[in-house]
Amino acid sequence: MQFSTKALPIDKARTACAIAPVLAGRALGPAGKAIDSATGGRLAAALASGDLASKAGSTLLVHLQGPIARALLVATGDKPVLDARAHAQVVRGAFRALRGLGGKDAISLLHEVQVEGQDLSWKIRGAALAARDAAYRFDRFKSKPDNGPGGPRSVAFAVDRADQAAARSAIGQASAIANGMDLARDLGNMPANVCTPTYLAQTAREIGRQFELKVQVLGEKQMAALKMNALLAVARGSAQPPQLVTLEYRGGPARQAPVVLVGKGITFDTGGISLKPAGEMDEMKWDMSGAASVLGTIRAVAEMKLPINVVGVVAAAENMPGGTATRPGDIVTSMSGQTIEILNTDAEGRLVLCDALTYAARFKPAAVIDIATLTGACVVALGKHHTGLFARTDGLADELLAAGREMSDTCWRMPLDEEYQELLKSPFADVANIGGRYAGAVTAACFLARFTRDYDWAHLDIAGTAWHSGANKGSTGRPVPLLAGFLMNRARG
Ligand code: BES
Ligand code: MN
Ligand code: ZN
Repeated sequence: MQFSTKALPIDKARTACAIAPVLAGRALGPAGKAIDSATGGRLAAALASGDLASKAGSTLLVHLQGPIARALLVATGDKPVLDARAHAQVVRGAFRALRGLGGKDAISLLHEVQVEGQDLSWKIRGAALAARDAAYRFDRFKSKPDNGPGGPRSVAFAVDRADQAAARSAIGQASAIANGMDLARDLGNMPANVCTPTYLAQTAREIGRQFELKVQVLGEKQMAALKMNALLAVARGSAQPPQLVTLEYRGGPARQAPVVLVGKGITFDTGGISLKPAGEMDEMKWDMSGAASVLGTIRAVAEMKLPINVVGVVAAAENMPGGTATRPGDIVTSMSGQTIEILNTDAEGRLVLCDALTYAARFKPAAVIDIATLTGACVVALGKHHTGLFARTDGLADELLAAGREMSDTCWRMPLDEEYQELLKSPFADVANIGGRYAGAVTAACFLARFTRDYDWAHLDIAGTAWHSGANKGSTGRPVPLLAGFLMNRARG
């Protein structure tokens, strides 16, 4: 999808569809009014019919005659100034409705709405991200593509001449972030017989080539030399070799400490010997979504050429049962030296992450953020709206919470108190890899906390937010927007 800007006034424009907000009190904005008077009051008449629900994001399509072939009227709710959440509903509603329409192009006027504390750039970036989100398709495994109306191939944002530069830079940011999200979504949606640890490593190499990043891939032997026995324990039952991938984006000053992003890359999680039940087990192909979000974020940051240093670490392995698989009760010595009693082989994410987090210290990071589809318990606690956020310091937590709100990719802070560590006691090793029935998302985070004592650290549990189940099954691309927003804020300083 192509984005561009267009100079106002709108009534001189030619397009298959103008997207116009209907503001509080059911009023058209300035551009909507201009279209209305150019078409003999067709929009006002359509509104008077009462066919447009007032809920933010409801839409009504009006066919017109003349250079503007149609108008998509989009309700913005009954408040004159929207909050970020209502704005997200408006732009999502608009571009979802458009997805089912014919016509090659559209002109958006949605930024006529006012959003509390946000400027034009923010509104345009949000609209462009919603447009790309709605346009996303994953059909590479279909022998014939579905050919219905596919929505517009290009979207222009109509703004005053003075605002063209701001609009263009917002479009650039949105495109980079959407490209990163699309990459993450493609990797997640791909079946596990294609998207293996080796495939993830190969994808990282390709990103490295395209954006001139340093990429390093460690195989089993090198990981064994580094004593990454927790990570290796997860891969033991699989025919697929594990891979530890690092990508270094150096956009900031040479001596600036990098932000390190560490992603859980379990390309399929059967549970191992602690085998999962059959129902919905296919969804465990998305268990590499943390790793995918790391690759997607690095891609976005590199395309935006952000002046900041970022390192991505992907811990990739497949969790399978088998004659060589790790057994419940096995004890391994992690890279950190701490011994772990693996009571449940299905708690494998924390095992690959603990060694990757120990490894991350060698980059002398300003902060480390790990991203993982870590626990079903996090989905029970928060559902599928917010990502679970765990952080030792309030500063880092607040930065991530704010970035989530700014990017409409929210997270919610969870506790990380030392008291919970008691649940991880093992009679035989330094720590057990599970904590029992209570507070499963918290004890998983507490396990990781033991390996992150040397730097500022946050953990994002994306088990509920990385993909949709049910009718519109598929990756969401989250939390690429949250992470990109966080890094954009850090780069601005
Ligand atoms: N990948 C799963 C977590 C998961 C489950 C994410 C369902 C999304 C949906 C993880 O490896 C896992 O199996 N966790 C266990 C931990 C338990 C054994 C302590 C879980 O959540 O049940
Ligand atoms: Mn598991
Ligand atoms: Zn898992």
